[in-house]
Amino acid sequence: MKSMPRRRFLSGAATALVGGRLIQRASGAPMLPLAELSAAAPLIVSTWPFGKPANEKALATLQAKGSGLDAIESGIRVTESDPSNASVGLAGIPNAAGVVQLDSCIMSGPGHRAGSVGAISGFRHPISIARAVMEKTKHVMLVGEGAAEFAAKNGFETGPKVSEGQRVAWEKWKEEQRRTEKNHDTIAMILLNESGDLFGGCSTSGWGYKLPGRLGDSPIIGGGLYVDNEIGAAGATGLGENVMRYCGTFLVVEFMRQGLHPQDACLETIRRIARLDPKGFDLSINFIAIDRRGRFGGAGTGSGFEYSVTCPAFSRVIQSPGLTSKDIGPVGGNRK
Ligand code: GLY
Repeated sequence: MKSMPRRRFLSGAATALVGGRLIQRASGAPMLPLAELSAAAPLIVSTWPFGKPANEKALATLQAKGSGLDAIESGIRVTESDPSNASVGLAGIPNAAGVVQLDSCIMSGPGHRAGSVGAISGFRHPISIARAVMEKTKHVMLVGEGAAEFAAKNGFETGPKVSEGQRVAWEKWKEEQRRTEKNHDTIAMILLNESGDLFGGCSTSGWGYKLPGRLGDSPIIGGGLYVDNEIGAAGATGLGENVMRYCGTFLVVEFMRQGLHPQDACLETIRRIARLDPKGFDLSINFIAIDRRGRFGGAGTGSGFEYSVTCPAFSRVIQSPGLTSKDIGPVGGNRK
């Protein structure tokens, strides 16, 4: 397997790492050298700057003696409740039929347990329903009407199937019959607690104006989220179709199992996908990862993305390195 030499990476996409100094990127968040991508547990990492208040809620939950799963659930509920977030929760962009269909999953390292809901409408907190699927049923995943029936029976909080603002935007989209690709900035959150156990969760409204019934990577174990209590955990955000075809987060964890630093595991996963995919690096995918030693990292395609890291000592947004076709030789390597 060919991989980009480390020196080339340092001098290319991440010049900011040279000398181990903190360099501000255009976005304002710093990119950090590998040596600084580590902290003592409890440690929480999530996608995007909007993950920071979610991380802080998760940390407060742990500090109030909540479990790892309580922390993941309470943190992700913060993002699901944000009326300004157009890609997570019921304020999200609807599907092509004007209905917000939510995807979510949760995973516990201890016991290797998982729960998931897909294409569920009219419920405010899919992360809590995913947890109930894990804890109250013999199944891992419920979708669509069956998931809604389960949520209703278990008394989960309901909400409008689309917000007024998104309904107006959808009417306009429908009139124009545009196939506009809207953003899909999932929250994925992964956590290492003081006992050395790992947990994770993921929640999204998915690809804006998607076909009704479309599932992305976020409810798929090994797609949008994977937790292995022996090794580490990984989460994904971006275009789910380009993550789930490659078992993206499972692959990140497997690279960590081979000894890679979490950030290098994210980079190597993107390189692997880009080599196989006819689109090369034009993938719109991003990963975060954490290992049992408290090392963490992220990486994305293009100019990378920002992710949030929280522990008792700090809570901050960090810029990940990005990968483009300039960073590696020929991609889409299976093409003849
Ligand atoms: N990553 C979220 C989605 O594609 O639905």
